[in-house]
Amino acid sequence: MAVDLLLGLQWGDEGKGKIVDVLTSNYNIIARFQGGPNAGHTLVFNGKKHVLHTIPSGIFHQNATNLVGNGVVIDPVIFKKELDKLEEQDVDYRKTLVISRKAHIILPTHRLLDAASEASKGKAKIGSTLKGIGPTYMDKTGRNGIRVGDLELSDWKERYRALANKHESMIAFYNVNVEYNLAELEKEFFEAIEVLKSLTFIDSEEYIYQAQKAGQSILAEGAQGSLLDIDFGTYPFVTSSNTTAAGACTGLGVSPNQIGEVIGIFKAYTTRVGSGPFPTELFDKDGETMAQVGREFGATTGRSRRCGWLDLIALKYACQVNGVTQLMMMKGDVLSGFETLKICTAYKYKGEIIHHFPYNIEPQNVQPIYTEFKGWSEDLTQMSNASEFPKPLNDYIEFIEKELEIPISVVSVGPDRKQTIFRK
Ligand code: IMP
Repeated sequence: MAVDLLLGLQWGDEGKGKIVDVLTSNYNIIARFQGGPNAGHTLVFNGKKHVLHTIPSGIFHQNATNLVGNGVVIDPVIFKKELDKLEEQDVDYRKTLVISRKAHIILPTHRLLDAASEASKGKAKIGSTLKGIGPTYMDKTGRNGIRVGDLELSDWKERYRALANKHESMIAFYNVNVEYNLAELEKEFFEAIEVLKSLTFIDSEEYIYQAQKAGQSILAEGAQGSLLDIDFGTYPFVTSSNTTAAGACTGLGVSPNQIGEVIGIFKAYTTRVGSGPFPTELFDKDGETMAQVGREFGATTGRSRRCGWLDLIALKYACQVNGVTQLMMMKGDVLSGFETLKICTAYKYKGEIIHHFPYNIEPQNVQPIYTEFKGWSEDLTQMSNASEFPKPLNDYIEFIEKELEIPISVVSVGPDRKQTIFRK
């Protein structure tokens, strides 16, 4: 069976976790393919909120296997905390959670390096979540990293020590003030490693191959968003992995011709957390309303998210790069009450009108051109069927579908599992 992909089309925080949770009953395996604890996937059901960082969002379903792929970077300390939370909820993850031996491990010194690198950049900082993501992927591509499978080898601690020593000299080289007590950090790290080692490690590409052959259905779960992709995002204000569809192939060992549906998740407006250009960003009352009504605070860092109108030029670019076959629009409910809504349908780029996503999208190069829409005042959060949607919402949805030439199959009208409306 083909592997379906689910990924974010903006700058992350689109609501991927919620949709994976909703769709898990249709799949045998949920497989995370990139990123690490920089992600915060929020799920709400039975009146409770759950935030996952590294563990796939299908973990609350007993019948699905949750696979952490080779493209993921794992911080054992954060991973252990996630497991502790699952235990508190009586989630029996031991039989359903498996980890690729080829996934890389985030060391305590990777986190410190992240902090030192950001501090050294001053105003030009990326706005990283400081979870050690960049330094860990740097060690992966630099061929120095420590992988989950290495924990089964007798000499891994010597390799750990050599790498941690090297990191310490790199931290000193940055010559910024990063205070730390490595002995303390290592204590919790090695304790967490023991917990990690008690889980099931697998050769995940073989596992997925055999599962596919046996007719099992697989959903690959992305983290962050397409505009944070290391190649196609707003570089250098991006994360350090391929968040786009190709990342699922390399992050799981699935060949491109095995990909089925590509489900693109987007918010009805746009948000961004951290630094970097954002053409449709709002600095007025409308932006504040989106932030307040949409509770736009990061699930991982608690930072406020920047808010703005939907950017169809950026969205079209993300759909192209990913080969999106169906769209799901999140947080439609947050737009209730705006008299007028705007969608960016072109950029003024260095004085010219363009309809594609150019190399430079900084404010001095790009100004958004908007198409206006009549808003709606109805509260969507109690609706359970698309037939209840007000006409202006249908107009908004249909305009996006027409421009992108891709159907919107789901509109989410609230954070709860139940507030998910299937259109077609
Ligand atoms: P890093 O991946 O933690 O180094 O962060 C790099 C950039 O990506 C920063 O602007 C972060 O705010 C952003 N970022 C990383 N992970 C997420 C996420 O899960 N959601 C939204 N933004 C993210």
